[in-house]
Amino acid sequence: MTSIRLVRDDLRPPGPPPRKHLLSVSDLTSDDVQRLLGTARTFESALDREVKKLPTLKGRLVVNLFYESSTRTSSSFELAAKRLSADTLMVKSAGSSVDKGESLKDTAQTLGAYDPDVIVIRHPQIGAPQLVARVTAAHVVNAGDGKHQHPTQALLDLYTMQQELGRLEGLHVAVVGDVLHSRVARSNIHLLGKFGCHFSLCGPAMWVPRELENIAPGTAIRRVYKIEEAVEGADVIIMLRVQTERQHEASISANDYIHGYQLNAERLKRAKPDALVLHPGPMNRGIEITPEVADGPQSCVLEQVTNGVAVRMAILYLLTAGEVEGGAAHPATQAVPGTPAAHNRRATDRSAEQPVSKGKDS
Ligand code: CP
Repeated sequence: MTSIRLVRDDLRPPGPPPRKHLLSVSDLTSDDVQRLLGTARTFESALDREVKKLPTLKGRLVVNLFYESSTRTSSSFELAAKRLSADTLMVKSAGSSVDKGESLKDTAQTLGAYDPDVIVIRHPQIGAPQLVARVTAAHVVNAGDGKHQHPTQALLDLYTMQQELGRLEGLHVAVVGDVLHSRVARSNIHLLGKFGCHFSLCGPAMWVPRELENIAPGTAIRRVYKIEEAVEGADVIIMLRVQTERQHEASISANDYIHGYQLNAERLKRAKPDALVLHPGPMNRGIEITPEVADGPQSCVLEQVTNGVAVRMAILYLLTAGEVEGGAAHPATQAVPGTPAAHNRRATDRSAEQPVSKGKDS
């Protein structure tokens, strides 16, 4: 019996098709980042329209594979894919065959058998996204691997800073909290450092070890142990959650942590008057940040969440379909009226609108 070939290999150029991944911010050149920001701005304009869906990735499949809890990253990747008309599949390790002992390789290959275009993976083990890239034919996006990298978070943080402040060069960025275990801090230092930001890292000594000063050669990084000193004159303050799930060393009491490292209104006054407060979430309100600051006019926490969708749309697009030159957008977005100018959504103090509650660890 003659078999029918569904894939016209004869039409492909010789050798495997090129495949792009986003496994680490080190994968990105400055040009890549600029192209991504331009594409995200165009998608952001599209999201302001009444009908937000674009046909750009119609017929593509995006698999979200999450071995750790997530609200923001998982939901925004799903929304980004849906806004681009891709099919989506969400697989969480809890309740899946991972519970029965299935290995990451077998799970990845199983999902790879559906021929996804993109696999977005979050995993507690460093290097898990690289493994998925080796054993499947999909484009792979690292949505957080252990304390190593969270590239899409750094990209949306950079996007938010550029949008709100209009520049990156020369910004003083204070990073406060459990820096040692933070993939967000690590990714931001590497990425923002490429664009001329300099850093004050602050937290209890065991969470801000000396080696962090050298993680991004060419980037000015200083360690300080008083939050007042760290935020003095800062343009941006990135507050971090204490990541109890990744800590093995002696901890610090909640009271001591609050006393030494909590960002409150009084401490925030030491930063520049228009300084931004960023937090990747989830926040532990009343621990690393007061509700007053979390909901205050300088907080960009919800802008980060909103921007996460446009930035992740740009990532999905550029990985799968984007042969984009000079930041030009996909034809599907070119009907968007107006230029994709940065705009600042922080208009009001949200404290009156939002309930005050304790944050929950993810
Ligand atoms: N910032 C972030 O990674 O949040 P989630 O854990 O909710 O995805």
